[in-house]
Amino acid sequence: MTKMAILHGKRLMWRSFSSLSSNPLRVCIVGSGPAGFYTAEKMLKGHQGAEVDIIDRLPTPFGLVRSGVAPDHQETKIVVNQFSRVALNERCSFFGNVSLGSSVALSELREMYHVVVLAYGAESDRVLGVLGEDLSGIYSAREFVWWYNGHPDYSNLAPDLKSTDTAIILGQGNVALDVARILLRPTLELKTTDIANHALTSLAESSIRKVYLVGRRGPVQAACTAKELREVLGIKDLYIHIQEADLLKSPADEEELKNNRIKRRVHELLSKAAATQPSHPRLGQRELHFIFFRRPDSFLRSDNSNGNVTGVRFEKTILQENGDPGKWSAVGTGQFEDLECGLVLKSIGYKSVPVDGLPYDHHKGVVPNHRGRILSDTSTGRIEQGLYVVGWLKRGPTGIIATNLYCAEETVASIFEDLEKGVLTPTTTPKPGREGLVKLLDSRNLRFVPFSGWEKIDLKEKTIGSLRNKTREKITSWEELLKVANK
Ligand SMILES: Cc1cc2nc3c(=O)[nH]c(=O)nc-3n(C[C@H](O)[C@H](O)[C@H](O)COP(=O)(O)OP(=O)(O)OC[C@H]3O[C@@H](n4cnc5c(N)ncnc54)[C@H](O)[C@@H]3O)c2cc1C
Ligand SMILES: NC(=O)c1ccc[n+]([C@@H]2O[C@H](COP(=O)([O-])OP(=O)(O)OC[C@H]3O[C@@H](n4cnc5c(N)ncnc54)[C@H](OP(=O)(O)O)[C@@H]3O)[C@@H](O)[C@H]2O)c1
Repeated sequence: MTKMAILHGKRLMWRSFSSLSSNPLRVCIVGSGPAGFYTAEKMLKGHQGAEVDIIDRLPTPFGLVRSGVAPDHQETKIVVNQFSRVALNERCSFFGNVSLGSSVALSELREMYHVVVLAYGAESDRVLGVLGEDLSGIYSAREFVWWYNGHPDYSNLAPDLKSTDTAIILGQGNVALDVARILLRPTLELKTTDIANHALTSLAESSIRKVYLVGRRGPVQAACTAKELREVLGIKDLYIHIQEADLLKSPADEEELKNNRIKRRVHELLSKAAATQPSHPRLGQRELHFIFFRRPDSFLRSDNSNGNVTGVRFEKTILQENGDPGKWSAVGTGQFEDLECGLVLKSIGYKSVPVDGLPYDHHKGVVPNHRGRILSDTSTGRIEQGLYVVGWLKRGPTGIIATNLYCAEETVASIFEDLEKGVLTPTTTPKPGREGLVKLLDSRNLRFVPFSGWEKIDLKEKTIGSLRNKTREKITSWEELLKVANK
């Protein structure tokens, strides 16, 4: 008997695997962010004989939906209800506190499962590679975001928000806007969200009044989207500064705007903000300055600053077509300008990290793949049998939550095609799957957190939160998370 399905606009056939219940297709997904959960959902729906285990290095699921999405974007986090329904499917299990690389090796997972899908995101940062990048007072946006979102690895970051009135954010993508908003928004408006308590306290005491949001290219090339820009421009009682000269459009800019509605909207919003602001801020008013055409050259410190950053030296830039028609790069002009500050947040993009035994493109920071099938050799197109990739680890660190849905559809379609073609042979080669994983973890004395353990954390966080009139009060230490989960 054959079943038909339409995946990603493509008609695809695969066998009905209902007869396989005694010999299921064992699938392990590494990472429980949007990419992992959408993949699990598609696998379970499309294959009645699939048994899906999702492992995550944290005791808590949902990846950046929990630890990235800003606390004042609660409506975005509703998607976790859909992911929870997937986790509660009787053919799905969650294994929190299990890390690929340290708890279990990739080769071991591949031995135990017919299909391993890597969905572990991008947990490191791009670096600028300029002088002074390791000074104190400089953080990546990832670190800062993990801190205010209560990620247990960064709850002790304690950025000093009291010794300076000025922060510089490098980059003009949506993460940069999130970070600017959190720094500048009245804390009263964050109080009822799920922001980590330590961050709320620190932001309430913050002396930061002025934030520079600096891009190496122009307003037409800014990486942010209109909704997010409108939000930051709409912060109550905020003085916005944009040099009107930066908003002048070259013929190439006009062409770029003509073909891109989002960019057009972003440019209109910036132009309106530049035109409608008074020429000076009021005394004590918080300020947001958009600076364009500046690329970081080096970080500054003074002799008596205890190794803390005191500013950034920028090189002014112009745009040059980079060989790829319509693509413009920032090129230095040899003119420099210093901006003083006591805090720098580098929001220039996330980066994935490889694990042992995984083909990895260090230049692009992704796992080489063809429609989600991991390639061991890109020149011949040779694939790693049974090994797939999805989400930020597959595409690089861009895209919103929903982008991972289409990405998961593509990867799952490849898995089903491989089943159909006999590249994967679950019927003739049984694998231990879940049972094997539990045994292995047990032999290493590693206690995993099942989904019911996460539900205990969830309940406790919501209960404490409701007492404080917050959506939830996040538990932010490893010790406490594991204690609550294992109760
Ligand atoms: C700061 C920020 C804010 C964002 N805000 C929004 C928003 O408001 N709206 C929106 O639509 N999109 C937003 N996005 C984008 C969205 O979060 C991403 O598109 C999405 O989370 C990427 O999904 P992923 O599953 O590939 O990675 P992730 O969400 O990062 O999930 C990866 C998972 O893998 C786990 N993991 C990592 N290493 C290992 C390992 N070795 N072993 C086991 N598990 C591991 C992690 O713990 C994590 O749970 C935001 C992104 C960022 C960075
Ligand atoms: N609310 C939301 O929907 C939301 C919120 C947060 C994040 N997200 C999504 O998450 C993804 C990641 O966001 P992101 O902001 O981290 O990445 P991003 O959108 O790729 O932005 C990165 C920024 O860093 C700059 N940059 C990169 N390398 C640089 C360098 N060497 N020197 C100076 N500047 C440099 C880029 O400038 P260039 O353009 O010149 O390269 C760009 O301004 C995006 O797709 C975003 O939309 C969505």
